[in-house]
Amino acid sequence: MRKQQVNMETKVWPADETAIAEAARTLREGGIVAFPTETVYGLGADARNPRAVRRVFEAKGRPSDNPLIVHIADRGQLEELALPYGGIEARLMEAFWPGPLTIVLPARPGAAAPEVTAGLDTVAVRMPAHSVALRLIAAADCPVAAPSANRSGRPSPTLAAHVLEDLDGRIDGIVDGGPAEVGLESTVVMVEGGRIRVLRPGGVTREALAEAAGCDVIVEAIEDAASSGNGEGGEPDGANGGASGGESGLRAGAGPGAEGGASAAPRSPGMKYAHYAPRGEMTLVIGGREAVRAWIGREAAAARAAGCLTGVLTWEEHAGHYDADAVVVCGSLARPEQAAQRLYAALREFDARGIGRIWAEGCPPEGIGLALMNRLAKAAGGRIVRV
Ligand code: TXA
Ligand code: MG
Repeated sequence: MRKQQVNMETKVWPADETAIAEAARTLREGGIVAFPTETVYGLGADARNPRAVRRVFEAKGRPSDNPLIVHIADRGQLEELALPYGGIEARLMEAFWPGPLTIVLPARPGAAAPEVTAGLDTVAVRMPAHSVALRLIAAADCPVAAPSANRSGRPSPTLAAHVLEDLDGRIDGIVDGGPAEVGLESTVVMVEGGRIRVLRPGGVTREALAEAAGCDVIVEAIEDAASSGNGEGGEPDGANGGASGGESGLRAGAGPGAEGGASAAPRSPGMKYAHYAPRGEMTLVIGGREAVRAWIGREAAAARAAGCLTGVLTWEEHAGHYDADAVVVCGSLARPEQAAQRLYAALREFDARGIGRIWAEGCPPEGIGLALMNRLAKAAGGRIVRV
């Protein structure tokens, strides 16, 4: 790979018309620009320009075999990118666009740069529900390929400051549109044999998909999700035909004693992949409230005694239970949407405080809770303990 360009000037633009026009011009001229969407910040490039798209991969340190989502501002742009699609896809667009749903469609050959689709014959498309994103794409007058605007493997950015943390000096600019509303990435789906397959759970819940499309919705198990993928957050395995998992979306796993006694987390193949990950080593702990509390308490005390800075990612309702160097509250169990909004900032907070070991409490894998659990499992790199 060509040497990464660093230490260029990264402009920070306010989200006003003049700045959006300048950012759009930058995109049209082959630049790479971060911009807000309702889910997370994206790092955009003209999807038709191979050189610009390659710059996105380089700035992120993203493996080139992981395709990008193409963002559009209107349906006219869709016809340029995709071949004719079925009725389920059309119903999903009707119900959820603009919004946090990405639909994998048959690609119109030659429409997007080959780097965008990583050589697949499908293209993932979404129309974001964010006025800055829509105005920017419309002004640029091109489809915008945009992964999340983080360095590969890091938590996705929900603030312009997070983008700067990861990409300052590597990209042309950022349009600062304030905090992202959803906080987790879009749901990625493809339609297969009359059913919707969720490749990545996200802002649109499986319950909402089923209701809008009136067909079956298949979701792979959290632990399968944690161990699939190829190097950067949220890679679904749909592109290469991985197996789909339990309908619950959360499969029974090994207990804490599965490998090497009560203090060892069970290993999974996913441990070698890091996604959305804080710098400290994170373990996701699932089980009854008391058991989880006791297990984390014991582990954290042992780690502290060994001189490690410890962190617990927990819920408002449980925050008082823990004694650790950093107890970070993600939100209330009664409002998982709020936790989704805060999750990535919370993970980055552990980094800012130099935390070496982190334990995260799970939540019921329902509604947005499914996406939360998917990201927690990935952030934990497959270190999932059931107690
Ligand atoms: O909310 C979001 O989706 C954000 C904002 C910026 O729109 N974008 C985002 O992009 O999360 P990224 O690159 O971080 O994740 C895109 C996901 C990846 O998991 C990628 O593998 C998958 O979409 N994807 C892209 N094209 C695909 C395709 N043709 N088939 C299957 N999966 C695809
Ligand atoms: Mg990403």
